[in-house]
Amino acid sequence: MPDGTCARPLQADLPAGGRAILPLSGRGLKVMHDGRALLDLEEIQLSGQGLTAVMGPNGAGKSLLLRVLAGLVTPGRGAVLWGEVPPRRDLRNRLGFVFQNPVLLRRSALANVAYVLSHAGLSRKQARSEARSVLVRARLGHLADRPARLLSGGEQQRLALARALALTPEVLFLDEPTASLDPASTLAIEEMIGAARRGGTRLVLVSHDAGQARRLADEILFLHRGRLIEHSRAEAFFEAPASREARAYLAGEILL
Ligand SMILES: Nc1ncnc2c1ncn2[C@@H]1O[C@H](COP(=O)(O)OP(=O)(O)OP(=O)(O)O)[C@@H](O)[C@H]1O
Ligand SMILES: [Mg+2]
Repeated sequence: MPDGTCARPLQADLPAGGRAILPLSGRGLKVMHDGRALLDLEEIQLSGQGLTAVMGPNGAGKSLLLRVLAGLVTPGRGAVLWGEVPPRRDLRNRLGFVFQNPVLLRRSALANVAYVLSHAGLSRKQARSEARSVLVRARLGHLADRPARLLSGGEQQRLALARALALTPEVLFLDEPTASLDPASTLAIEEMIGAARRGGTRLVLVSHDAGQARRLADEILFLHRGRLIEHSRAEAFFEAPASREARAYLAGEILL
């Protein structure tokens, strides 16, 4: 199968066109802690195709925004909608999340992928066989029987991404998936992201790497202190960022 994607959707109950999560929107989102707004966004909408890069300094609220949109954190105010409905357990499989530090089961690489596939309804045998082809497509076939937690950082990150892609998610959130990886592992991850995108997965990627965002992103969300400062096309953002904050960030200045 080309492109590292899974040809057959595993869920039979999708609406026509297969879109359950998109458009994904948030309105009046507010997350407070100790009287401080960690996140305070009027409106955000993800639709169509492609990749949105989320940028901004440390502590800006990027990871929190991803968790809120993925339904992992419920905002104190405002609402997230997946299509027409609030985040729902039965739609979770349509959405993937790769965390900055991969969360892998204390099992083999193969079993990590087989686990999500059998959870989604495949028989044990089908799940193991499908998991093997997922690993081969991710060029991890030779590591299938290794304990996942003994893999290198780059291999673990590729495994986490392969596992997230095994269910062909409609939307995939990636939180700094290449933050501590070398150029070769970064390239491998970027190739998998490219394949997922060609397969129709809508991607949201947190990255501090402006080069990576330029290579991959169609649009940029720039956050600062929990607020959405810019939401622009990637070319426009990099050519002429509209805000002082984004200009300073891209110039490598310290933003307080
Ligand atoms: N569960 C929580 N309880 C309290 N504060 C939190 C919680 N989650 C996040 N924060 C705070 O919210 C702010 C935003 O955190 P977040 O992890 O989203 O930042 P970030 O933009 O992802 O930063 P980084 O680039 O360092 O990963 C930070 O000040 C963080 O300390
Ligand atoms: Mg973060």
